[in-house]
Formats: sequence, C-alpha cells, structure tokens
Amino acid sequence: MGLERTLVELGPRSYTVFVGDGLLGGAGELLVEDGWRRALVVTDDNVGPLYGDTVTRGLRRAGLEVASISIEPGEGSKSVHKAFELLDFLTGSGMRRADLLVALGGGVVGDLAGFVASVYKRGVPVLQVPTTLMSQVDSSIGGKTGVNLPRGKNLVGTFHQPVAVICDVDTLETLPEREYRSGLAEVAKYSFLRPELWPVPLAESADLLKELDKEELATVVNLCAGIKARIVSADEYDTGVRAVLNYGHTLGHALEAATGYETYTHGEAVSVGMVFAAHVAAEVGITDGGLVDRHLEVLASLGLPVAPYPPAPEFERVLDAMWQDKKSRGGLTMVLLAGEGNAMVRHDLDTAVLAECYQRLMGGA
Ligand code: NAD
Ligand code: GLY
Repeated sequence: MGLERTLVELGPRSYTVFVGDGLLGGAGELLVEDGWRRALVVTDDNVGPLYGDTVTRGLRRAGLEVASISIEPGEGSKSVHKAFELLDFLTGSGMRRADLLVALGGGVVGDLAGFVASVYKRGVPVLQVPTTLMSQVDSSIGGKTGVNLPRGKNLVGTFHQPVAVICDVDTLETLPEREYRSGLAEVAKYSFLRPELWPVPLAESADLLKELDKEELATVVNLCAGIKARIVSADEYDTGVRAVLNYGHTLGHALEAATGYETYTHGEAVSVGMVFAAHVAAEVGITDGGLVDRHLEVLASLGLPVAPYPPAPEFERVLDAMWQDKKSRGGLTMVLLAGEGNAMVRHDLDTAVLAECYQRLMGGA
C-alpha cells in the first residue's frame, strides 16, 4: 500500500497529513527534516501498551530523545484538571519550546495534548498520531483543541495546528468495534457533503469497510482527510464554510447531552442527527424524501443507528440542549443539505418543524 500525503494549506502553518499502513515506526523519518531533538509522547492506557513502544523506537531511531506519559482513557480525561497535570509534567520534565509533543491516541488524547501544546510556554509544536477512525478522519486535522467543563463539552479550547498528522490504518485493527463504527458516521458525513469525490457510493463499499479491508480504509481515510484539509484551508478559524463539518451535529450533540454522554458514542449520535437533518431539509422543501432514503440506506449499511435509542429523550429536552450549542449565534443553527453535496447553514428554522421531524425520526422512517 502506498503512502498518501495531503497538504493542509495554511501558509506558514501548512502541514501534511500522511495516510498509509506501517507508518507508526517511521514517524521519526517522516519528520526528520524538521530537526526535532526531543519529543514527549502523550498517550492513554489503552493505546500506550499497543503502540507506545513502536512510536518511541521510531522517534529514537531518527535521533530524538523521547519521554512519555499516559493518561486514563475516556472523555473524563478531557478536563482542565488533566490539562493542568500534563502542564505540570511538561514543566517537571524540562520541556522546551523547541521540543515536540506527540499525541498518540484517539480524539481525547489529541484534543487534550493539542490544547496543552497550545498554551505551554505560549505554544509548542504538536504532532498528531491518531489511532481511532474518528480521529484519523476528523479530530486530528484542523487544529481544534480543547477540554470540557462541567457545564459542557469543549468549552475551553484553542486553534493550534499540528506540525503533521500521521494516520496509520493498521492501528484500527485493535479498535473496539463500536468505536470503529462511530468513526464510520463521520465518513458517511463526508460522503453526503462531497459525494462527487467518492469513486463508488459509500453503501457499496460498506462491506469492505466493515471487514476492515486495509486498502479500502486507507483510500477512505485519505479521501476524508482531503475533504477536511480543503475545508480547513478555506476557513481555519471556523467563521464560514467550516460550519458544514457540523452536519448532523445539532441533534447529535443534543442527544449526547440530553442522555448524559453515556448512551451514544459521538458517531452514533451524529448518525441519528444526519437522518434528522435530512427530514428537516425535506420538510422545509429544499430537497425531497429521496435524501432521507439515501441516508437510511448508507447509515444502516454501516451498522449505524438511524433513530434515537429507546427511551428517546422528550423533544423539549433535546430542543433545550440544541439551544445550548456553543456554535449557536443566539438562534438555532443547523446544516442542511439541499441534496447531497449541496450544504447550507440555516438559522431560521421553526421549532414546530423540528418537533415534527423529531417525531418522524422516532417512527424510524
Ligand atoms: P477516544 O479518544 O475516547 O477513543 C475511544 C476509545 O478507544 C478509548 O478507550 C481509547 O483508549 C481507545 N483506543 C483508541 N485507539 C485505539 C486503538 N487503536 N486500539 C484500541 N483502542 C483504542 O474517542 P474518539 O472517538 O477518537 O475521540 C472522541 C473525542 O474527539 C471527543 O472528545 C470529541 O469531542 C473529540 N473530537 C474532536 C474534534 C476536533 O475537531 N478537535 C472532532 C471530532 C471529535
Ligand atoms: N470537527 C469539526 C471541525 O473541525 O470543524
């Protein structure tokens, strides 16, 4: 399998997303021209034992001094408290501004380490080495970092672009099946946003993806990375077109929040959110019911939910959570598709329409 490279074009902050297999041990070589001398690897207690040694050996082979630290897995580690602990560790280990922080893990490690890198000594470089499908196709690219506050997710954060992103699809073999499927929801999102870039419709390659076919995975991760790279290059600070990446996230985030972040993985919630958005698009007349049918076909073929898990939260609860969305400009914002490939951001949606579509969703069709 070849090594694919995608450039995220951001002038002096431009960087490459590498996608392939067997890349972890060669991380040092991929960066060798950057002249790093020391690296500190941040990982978690699931990923560290699987891949920490390979990455460390690879960086040492390229001449770097390497230290590492592991955090507890899970969303609970994306906290201000954990960020403080990491910052304290960096200070204690004498990390300098010229040293490299390496985030080895899923979106939790990537967001936390990225955040810490952005504030330590007013910013140190971070290399993202994502090991979940979610983080390979989405969170590691684009520079959004952050930690959660007790009142909500990602409420403290920065934009801090990595120096590179290394996506090794081999790591997906050890990913728990539910986490893998969660990432497939983001893949589906990209396929709805930019269907013309897909060589075959996603539903047709669903079986290969479910079997973790490496060639297919590398193709798909690279495709998604390319789509995200172009959007981020056009709107680094999320003031315009980057909003389309939130397709399915208005209801998705609300479902996660209304169920205490314990019922849905992020991707499962986004999957239901995309079906909801398709219903809303049909209801407000910018597309026809065919969009809902195609969403149901693609998402079901990937083994993703297309309706809220019972007992579904009451609409009022979900609506309240939608209003709390940090992206809200004071009104309710949703990304809708006027047909696949034609995304638009709407701020003018009627609550009665949303209520009607939520009921339709519960009907499962
Ligand atoms: P995660 O980081 O919690 O990882 C999921 C689980 O899989 C964890 O238990 C982890 O230890 C384990 N794991 C990771 N890689 C593994 C591997 N290769 N083999 C075995 N186990 C492995 O979950 P995630 O879905 O990667 O990330 C979710 C986080 O990403 C959320 O906090 C979300 O807010 C954030 N996110 C950020 C952005 C962004 O733009 N910054 C975008 C999307 C999501
Ligand atoms: N994950 C959404 C974004 O990067 O904008």
